[in-house]
Amino acid sequence: MNKIKIIQPDDWHVHFREGGILSVVTKYSSRINKRCIAMPNTIKPITSSKEAINYKKIIESNSKKESFQALIPCYLTDTLNIEDFEYALQNNIFIGGKLYPNNATTNSQHGVNDIKKIYNIFEILEKQNKILLVHGELNRDDIDIFDREKYFIDEELYQIRNNFKNLKIVLEHVSSDYGVDFVKTNNNIAGTITPHHMLLTKGDVFQNDKINPHHYCMPVVKNESDLVSLRKAACFNNSKFFLGTDSAPHHLDDKLHNGIPKAGIFSAPCSIELYAAIFEEENALENLEQFSSINGPKF
Ligand code: NCD
Ligand code: ZN
Repeated sequence: MNKIKIIQPDDWHVHFREGGILSVVTKYSSRINKRCIAMPNTIKPITSSKEAINYKKIIESNSKKESFQALIPCYLTDTLNIEDFEYALQNNIFIGGKLYPNNATTNSQHGVNDIKKIYNIFEILEKQNKILLVHGELNRDDIDIFDREKYFIDEELYQIRNNFKNLKIVLEHVSSDYGVDFVKTNNNIAGTITPHHMLLTKGDVFQNDKINPHHYCMPVVKNESDLVSLRKAACFNNSKFFLGTDSAPHHLDDKLHNGIPKAGIFSAPCSIELYAAIFEEENALENLEQFSSINGPKF
């Protein structure tokens, strides 16, 4: 077999950035996808209707295809203008909200310190039937970098789930067996899975006290057992998982300097190819379309 045909995919987690980078990278995502969720962690985060309209316009005008759509979530903070936020949800300017716990990842310094402070926002999302996208990592000094997802689930996500039973939540870039299990066993929650979390383990990132900057991302890739669990979740017909690359380009200067490189893996130029190769390795090519083009829109 050298050809397969699938419904046009969507990528539910992409970083387009701004300026020069945006104009270079947008064509890679729009060459293949029908829609992309454009992450709002720009240098000045996207928090208002005006900024969202503008960002959508810039991305779409740099895309390869006229039909390509960028969908914008609001970067949630505890100082949002609630009136504008509600207006933007009602008018589909924001498709939902993105929760970045404070300092969990690149450009998340505006994120939320005390998640309880934005429970009023979750209530609005739930009422309006809009999605909550979650970077599910708890970043605290006493928590090992490999355990951040587990701690976030235990200390925050269970509570959010229980308080807002009808709120649709996407646990983004699920990176652990623990995360897979949480998505599978809770209602109204789905997960996106990146190609790199199904290709790399921590040995590919940390070698003799050195970090391979090109494999360094958040959440950090984990153990073989996590990789296997993620492959199973993506490939074997579980309707709760779908495509989200977390393609996150950085300038080489920010990757190759001494010290901790910026986190993020740029996979947009070969994203569907990477997924297809993984599904082929798992003898599950017939399930690729479900993951890339059906489960996400359904959710
Ligand atoms: C992303 C980025 O560079 O903006 N980095 C990453 O490692 N994935 C932010 C994010 O999605 O965590
Ligand atoms: Zn991301």
